[in-house]
Amino acid sequence: MLRSSSNSASASVSTTPADLSTMTWREYHESTKHSVESLRRAPHVLDWANIPDPFRHYEGVPVLDLPADPPIPETPALEVLRGAAGSTPAGDGPTFLSQLLFYSAAISASKRIPSTGHRYALRVNPSSGNLHPTEFHFLTRGLKEWPDGLYHYLPSAHMAEQRVTGDLEIKVAGSSAPIVFVLTTIAWREAWKYRDRAYRYCLHDMGHAWQALALAARAIGCDSFAVGHFPDDEIAQFCCLPEDEWPMLIVELRGSSIPVREPDACETVWYGGHANQLSKERTAYPRIDGIHCVTKLGKGACRGISPAEPAPTGSGEIQLPPPASSTRAFGEVARMRRSALDFLGGVQSMSSAELSAILAASTQPFSADFGGAHFIQLYLYAHRVDGLEPGVYRFWPERAELELIKSGDQRVAAAGLSLGQELAGNACVALSMIGDLARAVRAHGDRGYRHAHFEAGAIGHRLYLAAEALGLGATGIGAFYDEEVHRYLNLAPEQGQVVYHFAIGYPVPDPRLEA
Ligand SMILES: Cc1cc2nc3c(=O)[nH]c(=O)nc-3n(C[C@H](O)[C@H](O)[C@H](O)COP(=O)(O)O)c2cc1C
Repeated sequence: MLRSSSNSASASVSTTPADLSTMTWREYHESTKHSVESLRRAPHVLDWANIPDPFRHYEGVPVLDLPADPPIPETPALEVLRGAAGSTPAGDGPTFLSQLLFYSAAISASKRIPSTGHRYALRVNPSSGNLHPTEFHFLTRGLKEWPDGLYHYLPSAHMAEQRVTGDLEIKVAGSSAPIVFVLTTIAWREAWKYRDRAYRYCLHDMGHAWQALALAARAIGCDSFAVGHFPDDEIAQFCCLPEDEWPMLIVELRGSSIPVREPDACETVWYGGHANQLSKERTAYPRIDGIHCVTKLGKGACRGISPAEPAPTGSGEIQLPPPASSTRAFGEVARMRRSALDFLGGVQSMSSAELSAILAASTQPFSADFGGAHFIQLYLYAHRVDGLEPGVYRFWPERAELELIKSGDQRVAAAGLSLGQELAGNACVALSMIGDLARAVRAHGDRGYRHAHFEAGAIGHRLYLAAEALGLGATGIGAFYDEEVHRYLNLAPEQGQVVYHFAIGYPVPDPRLEA
């Protein structure tokens, strides 16, 4: 059952449902900004009886086992983040897929709430509110000992639901790859908590999921290429998606490490399956439908992506030192990554070589049709980094330099700007990601709104893994006072908009965490 949303936490622009067919990305973005006033005006009480099921499944289809305990990718995570490829001993399709998914999308830990005994699952990929809007579908052609077809990954059981068998093809980069993922989002899962702002979280989560997949693939010897520019409805139809699930990214995998055979010339059999209902009731969020619609592409509109105007370049007075190193294996780092609930604060600092390694991980190129241009700039609130005066810095990636923007203690400001979340002040360093949304849209059309947010999520994922590899912790922060951040950083409108916050430091132990 669908009910309508009564109000919005963030309607600073008077976009009424009647306007939504002509809503622009800018109106959506403006209308979902947090301010003290927007939160006061429309407080939100979570309807726990109606929380969406975090696990989608398709009833009535065959389910294929993925072997337990796949081999661990041993290449050091920091090397994978720097672009080094690993290899895999997996000699057959099931083991290969199991390894790939175990290190990119599987359940990796659980938490238990002591007062109620309630347990819930955490995954390799992080998610705002642990609500997990992203689903992993994949198409295989010619994998050894694995039938060709279209599958949906079930993280709850580490199994694959077989939705179609037969020789299907999605041609991404001119020829078909042996494995093609279609990552989808279920916006209602996020909207249940974050209402209209939820679309932004879905895009970030997608960026995280993409990098979780792309880096796991690299760690086992595959190249990946992501496509953000595709005809939405056609892909949704191809994957037989229910109406609450939207395709967002296509990721193809290639490489000699994939165990292949000749594709089957067998008949195509559609099982499809019946998607489970996630909640008793679903609230309609017309602004989310509006921004999704505005950023969709039709068949004829996929002509490709124009080159973007160059990103601003600059320099700073502080040269970062050579990056710190770490030998921790990718497999261990990917599965141990967690979001810190809070950081220790106090006096313990991180080294500037660690900061250098973490920032270096964020600058590696993205293999994607929208990866030719960068739309995200990093601003740092340095609280406790050896050799760095407390202050706000702008990071210039080309020369690994930091430019001092504001000096002085930033702990109160960083926490305050992050909606009063103390973890941003207790971390060693907090970050604002500033997205040049207007430049992204000029180059990629309205689809650029998605791409800039994917990039922010993807950078976030690299920050998480680099921090974990170095024995630190991190947390993505989607909640911040948008305009306050712009004012604090003295950003002119043409310099972009804050799209994501992040915090890195020494995590406080979480007694609820179970391996
Ligand atoms: C896009 C995004 C936004 C997030 N925003 C916040 C936030 O504002 N505050 C917070 O404490 N955690 C935030 N998190 C962390 C999630 O709560 C965390 O990923 C989730 O609980 C799952 O835990 P895990 O990362 O340890 O797997 C965010 C994560 C993502 C990916």
